[in-house]
Amino acid sequence: MTAPSNVSRPGGTVLVTGGAGFIGCAISASLVEAFDRVVVVDNLHPQIHASGSRPTELNAGAELIIGDVAEAATWDAVLAEVTPDVVIHLAAETGTGQSLQESTRHTHVNVVGTSQMLDGLNRHGRLPRRIVLSSSRAVYGEGAWQKADGTRFYPGQRTSETLDRSQWDFPKATPVAMKASETFPAPVSVYGATKLAQEHVLQTWAKSFGVETVVLRLQNVYGPGQSLINPYTGIMSLFCRIAMGGKSIPLYEDGDVRRDFILIDDVASAIVAGAVSPTVQGEPMDIGSGEFQTIGTAAKLIAAHYNAPEPHVTGQYRQGDVRHAWADVSAAEEVLGWTPQYNLAQGIERLANWIDAQPDVQPA
Ligand SMILES: NC(=O)c1ccc[n+]([C@@H]2O[C@H](COP(=O)([O-])OP(=O)(O)OC[C@H]3O[C@@H](n4cnc5c(N)ncnc54)[C@H](O)[C@@H]3O)[C@@H](O)[C@H]2O)c1
Repeated sequence: MTAPSNVSRPGGTVLVTGGAGFIGCAISASLVEAFDRVVVVDNLHPQIHASGSRPTELNAGAELIIGDVAEAATWDAVLAEVTPDVVIHLAAETGTGQSLQESTRHTHVNVVGTSQMLDGLNRHGRLPRRIVLSSSRAVYGEGAWQKADGTRFYPGQRTSETLDRSQWDFPKATPVAMKASETFPAPVSVYGATKLAQEHVLQTWAKSFGVETVVLRLQNVYGPGQSLINPYTGIMSLFCRIAMGGKSIPLYEDGDVRRDFILIDDVASAIVAGAVSPTVQGEPMDIGSGEFQTIGTAAKLIAAHYNAPEPHVTGQYRQGDVRHAWADVSAAEEVLGWTPQYNLAQGIERLANWIDAQPDVQPA
């Protein structure tokens, strides 16, 4: 992938935390083109990196420093010899459901990991020009819904009591696209709460020190390179592995859960644009495909690719999942000159072809 042609090549040094993960690897080639030096700091977390070694997808031009972002000593070692012009902060614990059981781990890495990075930058007098944060649509929780008369309201968190009765939607209301300038954040998972805290910690710090920020709230990212072993993320790769084994894909709730599935290539170009764009505006922006699909539609496309039986609805649900989520991406289009390029059918084709080419992939 090459850097978008409508942005300049800033040169200098970019430091990428969590840069050995799914998104980090996908942006690495563009960053090597756009910057003189690319330094990745990543602890090669065993939930994502089964082998514990440098991923082959990480561009050879990127330097990898193995370290935990939540440790002050990591920053002392890194910043002793790296002067970042731009930081892209991706390192995070990302399991939405898992975060309810392991809230300390999620809070420690996502919030303390961010503050340790900022303290390190201060301690070493290495303030970058810009910090790009990969935030999440999880900050919105259920987002805003609309009544028949057009009034918007925030329904809050769905309860076990209503979910046990298979009441999936909020009665007499329809959901509204998530848009940072209009939708009030109201997380319903610890993960979402930590991503919002990350945003707040970063933005208050950055405003005080005159550092630019680009906060991108990503919707559901999928595509080639996504983890095939992490049981807590990656519904699309899981669906592929179920269908590959000739099984019917199980659908939670009624199968009509809406998601905004965005192909990794489109996320990568948004993050690179955030890093190299000559000007930014500082407020959070939403990154998605610009349209929603139901989980059932995605599962059907995947089942068709593998000639698997039709998906089936189980009526199960998962705590921390929101009913519907999709983004209004107009702010990112305007500010970054970025626009998503791929639709769901194209993206699933690319994901499935990549999975089919993996030597050791196991059907689920
Ligand atoms: N993938 C998505 O659908 C999605 C959606 C919204 C937001 N995001 C955000 O994008 C970012 C990257 O996500 P991803 O999909 O690439 O995840 P990923 O799990 O593939 O990558 C995260 C990387 O961070 C590293 N890491 C974890 N804890 C660390 C620590 N303490 N110190 C150093 N490195 C650490 C991991 O080893 C991994 O390489 C995260 O901040 C996540 O919250 C992702």
